[in-house]
Amino acid sequence: MCGIVGYAGPRPVLDVLVPGLERLEYRGYDSAGIAVETGSEIAVVKQVGRIADLERALETRRPDGGIGVGHTRWATHGAPNTINAHPHLDCSHTVSVVHNGIIENWADLKSGLIERGHSFASDTDTEVVAHLLEEMSNVGLAEAVRRVMSIAEGALALCVMRRDEPDVLVGARRGSPLVVGLGDGENFLASDIPAFLEHTRRMLVVDDDRVVELRADDVRITDLDGMEITPKERVIEWDLEAAERGGYETFMLKEINEQPSALADTLRGRVDPMGAVTLRELTVPDQILRMIDKVFVLACGTSYHAAMMAKYAIERWTRLPVEIDIASEFRYRDPVLDGRSLVIGISQSGETIDTLAAIRYAKAQGSTVIGVTNVVDSALAREADAVLYTRAGPEIGVAATKTFTTQLVAMQLLGLYLAQVRGALDPGSVAHLVRELSLLPEKVTEVLGLDGHVAAMCGEWADVRDFFFLGRSGDFPVAMEGALKLKEIAYVRAEGYAAGEMKHGPIALIEPGVVVVGVAMDTRIRSKTLSNMQEMKARGATIVMVVEKGAESEVAEVADHVIALPDSPDLICTVLAVVPLQLLSYHVATAKGLDVDKPRNLAKTVTVE
Ligand code: M6R
Repeated sequence: MCGIVGYAGPRPVLDVLVPGLERLEYRGYDSAGIAVETGSEIAVVKQVGRIADLERALETRRPDGGIGVGHTRWATHGAPNTINAHPHLDCSHTVSVVHNGIIENWADLKSGLIERGHSFASDTDTEVVAHLLEEMSNVGLAEAVRRVMSIAEGALALCVMRRDEPDVLVGARRGSPLVVGLGDGENFLASDIPAFLEHTRRMLVVDDDRVVELRADDVRITDLDGMEITPKERVIEWDLEAAERGGYETFMLKEINEQPSALADTLRGRVDPMGAVTLRELTVPDQILRMIDKVFVLACGTSYHAAMMAKYAIERWTRLPVEIDIASEFRYRDPVLDGRSLVIGISQSGETIDTLAAIRYAKAQGSTVIGVTNVVDSALAREADAVLYTRAGPEIGVAATKTFTTQLVAMQLLGLYLAQVRGALDPGSVAHLVRELSLLPEKVTEVLGLDGHVAAMCGEWADVRDFFFLGRSGDFPVAMEGALKLKEIAYVRAEGYAAGEMKHGPIALIEPGVVVVGVAMDTRIRSKTLSNMQEMKARGATIVMVVEKGAESEVAEVADHVIALPDSPDLICTVLAVVPLQLLSYHVATAKGLDVDKPRNLAKTVTVE
C-alpha cells in the first residue's frame, strides 16, 4: 500500500516520476504528490484523487531538478485529502518525506515534537519523520535516517530529501518493499519494479533495516550501524509489455485472459515425463517433509481461498492433518505447532504484513516454512525456508485473478509432491493427476470462450443488491472467491457460503431478486448441492449453476442459467470453476460503470496490519 518512486539523474524529473506513479497506482490511489529539489527549494505539488488529478495540478506548476520523489497514497492515518497527501515537509521546509507503511509510535513521537515546538500540517503518522529529521540537521542525511529508523516502530519504507544535500535521495526499508533500479548515469528507488522498468532492468532488492543513498552516479547501501552492504545485482526477466494493458480495456480483463499461459508457466519444468512432480527449487530436504506430522496454511483474502482448497488437496492426497488460518488471526489463537509442523504461507505479493507476521511466528516455534508467492525476492520468498513461485507474471489489477489460479495449481503441485515424497499416493495416481493439471491451460482457454455467455447473463444484474455463492468441498473455496471478487470490484453484497450451511440461518435472506450461484463441479456431492439450490429456488432466488459439460440436463430444472465447463477431477476443477466467476464479477462491475482495476478503498499490496 502506497507507492514510492524516486529519481536521481539528468532527465526532466517529472518525466520519470509521473509515469512511475501511474505504474504504481495499483498500490493506492486516494491522493498523490511529488517533491523536486529545484536548486532553490524543495518544490511540492500534491493533490487528492488519482494520478490524473495530480497531472492536472502539475500543468500549472512543473518543478524540475536533479532529484525528486513521488508518492501515491492509500490512507491509513488521516483522511484522504490534499493536506494528508505525501510528500510531507518539516517546519522549515528543508526536509521532504514520503512513506509507505505505518509508524506505530507516531502519537508519542508527535506529542514530543509538539512539546519541542514543532507544528504539524497534516494528520498523518508520516509527518513525524520530517520533523525528527529537522532536529537532526547536525548529522548527514543518511545517518539521520538511520537514527529515525531506530526510533520509529512499525513497517516503513521511506524516501527523503534534504536541502543541504541536494544531490541525494535517502531511502530506508523495514517491512515495506523497496527496490533500486540501476541506470547509466541515473538511478531509481521504488516500491515496485514497474515504476522504472521502462528505463532499466538492472536492480537491487533492499533488505529490511537498510538505508540507501541514491545519487545519479552512485548507490550506496548500509545497515543501521552504517556498515556498507553490497546486495547482488539482479536482471528483471519480464518486460514492460507484461505490465501494460496490451490492447485490453482493463488490466483485470487482460490478466483473466492471461491465465492459460500463466498456468502453463506455473507447471513448466515441474513435472517429469513419467508424471512425477519435480520441485527442484523446494530446498526443504525430503527427510524433513517425511517427518512432518501437521501442516498449516496461512494467507489473507484471495490467497486464503487458495489455502482452503489446499487443505482439501493436501489432506486428501497425503492424509496429513491440515489447519488453515486467516494470517491476521493465526498468532492470536496460540496455535499448537512445533518442529514437526510444516507451515505454508501463500501471498501473491509476498509482502502482506499479516502473512509475514504469521510465518515469522511459525519460524520462531521451530516450524519449517514454505512460501508460495508470485514476486521474486519478496519478503516472503526471502524469509521462508523454501519458496515455490507461482510464475503468473506481473498482476496490476487490484483484484487477484491469474495469481489465484496459479496459486491453486502451485498448491496442488505441492500437495502431490508431499504425497509422492511420503509415499501417500502411488506413482500412477500422481501421474494421472499431473496429466490432468497439464490439461488446465487448454481447458481454461475453452472456459474463456464463455465470456459472451456470462456477459449476457450479467447484463440484467447491474441493480441486483444481493448475491450468494454456494458450494461444497472444493467448490466451497471457489464460491468464496466468486463472492469476494464481486464485493471488491462491483461493490455488491455477496456472500460465499458452504451450500449445506445456508439452512442454518442465511436462508432467511433469500427472496425474489437475490441471485444465487451454485458451484457444483464436485460430482461426489452434486446431488446434495442441488438439493440446497432447490431450497434457494423455492424462496424465489434466481439460480445460476456452474457444472461440467454433460451435467446440464441434471441441473436444468433448478437453474435459470447454466455455465457448463470442461470436465476435470475434483479439486483440480477449482481452477476452471473460478474463471466464469471472475468474468461474472467483471461484467457486473463494468455494467455499473466501475473502475475494476482500482476498486475503491483497496490496495494491491497490504503492508499494514
Ligand atoms: O498479496 P496477497 O496475496 O498476500 O494479498 C492478500 C489479499 O490482500 C488479496 O488477496 C486481496 O484479497 C485481493 N484484493 C484479492 O483480489
